[in-house]
Amino acid sequence: MPTKLVAVTDSVFPNLDPASAVLAKIGAELRLAKEPKPEAILEVARDADAVLTTYAKVTADMIPQMTRCRIIGRFGIGVDNVDIPAATKAGIVVTRVPDYCLDEVSDHAMALLLALVRKIPSSNARTHAGRWEMRAVVPIHRLRGTVLGLVAFGQIPQLVAPKAQSFGIRVVTYDPYVSKQVAERAGVEQVEFDELVRISDYISIHTPLMPATHHLFNADVFRRMKPTAYLINTARGPIIDEAALASALDEGQIAGAALDVMEQEPPPGSPLFGRDNVIVTPHTSFYSEESLVDLQTKAAEEVVRVLSGQAPRNPVNPEALKTAQAI
Ligand SMILES: NC(=O)c1ccc[n+]([C@@H]2O[C@H](COP(=O)([O-])OP(=O)(O)OC[C@H]3O[C@@H](n4cnc5c(N)ncnc54)[C@H](O)[C@@H]3O)[C@@H](O)[C@H]2O)c1
Repeated sequence: MPTKLVAVTDSVFPNLDPASAVLAKIGAELRLAKEPKPEAILEVARDADAVLTTYAKVTADMIPQMTRCRIIGRFGIGVDNVDIPAATKAGIVVTRVPDYCLDEVSDHAMALLLALVRKIPSSNARTHAGRWEMRAVVPIHRLRGTVLGLVAFGQIPQLVAPKAQSFGIRVVTYDPYVSKQVAERAGVEQVEFDELVRISDYISIHTPLMPATHHLFNADVFRRMKPTAYLINTARGPIIDEAALASALDEGQIAGAALDVMEQEPPPGSPLFGRDNVIVTPHTSFYSEESLVDLQTKAAEEVVRVLSGQAPRNPVNPEALKTAQAI
């Protein structure tokens, strides 16, 4: 059997061993692009049978040049870095791994919530600087009886809910596509977006990034949040208008924010940096040693399925499989 080539556009992993081990079963070889830029990616992807991608943009200009490619697999949940219509047109199925880090991201969202409310980063910084001051963290409010608003109620927030509830927090959600039964079973109240914004003490964002959610959190929304409210984002940076968030914090319209994702990553600098009431982590919600192995294994298994003529488990554009048969 001739060796199959799998191009990797970019990688944030210590190594690609778990993916390589899976692909070795069909005699496929991995080739990592020298840098996550179109020309370098095309150098490895032009003749590849499959492409695996992490954050690098796979654009409508690049896709038609990947003439042998049958699958673009995302090492991750969101697929906003891949031009899906262009892939569909080219008969390339795009897959994602929807279930490798649900525990990690839901834990991270809770960790950010707790760190904000208990003011852990700012008090830690003070004690290390020799300042043993209780007054510096005043005020801190009790968690029990407060309200957490989950924007979207997909797989991750469905795991955040019971964790928050175990602290005595009341959980509400806005997700127009989730059934009443799913919310009811979780003991979570479904509310409209405006009500969630108005009543929540903490808002945690879990929507995919798409045109409808780009800058969903903007100046108008910040004006309607509680001045004591905290905003947490472990979904995607551009869901928040960061300039508007900085102004809202300056004007005391909300109390603080914790972001694992930013509009531009890595950020070139930000008016949000250097503040006591803002926590930023470098897009690490998904990470644990265990989740990385799951992620690489599951993404590579999709490649094996497609290259061996089987249907992938998690296609984003299943219609591409039909297009592929037709072309
Ligand atoms: N920071 C990280 O490391 C990291 C890791 C994994 C996932 N994520 C992000 O987290 C997001 C959520 O993950 P998930 O597994 O819960 O996704 P999911 O696919 O299970 O659920 C997405 C939910 O969003 C809802 N939704 C869609 N449009 C909406 C809108 N306009 N308003 C409200 N709800 C809307 C859907 O109905 C669905 O229930 C992903 O899209 C991904 O971008 C980030």
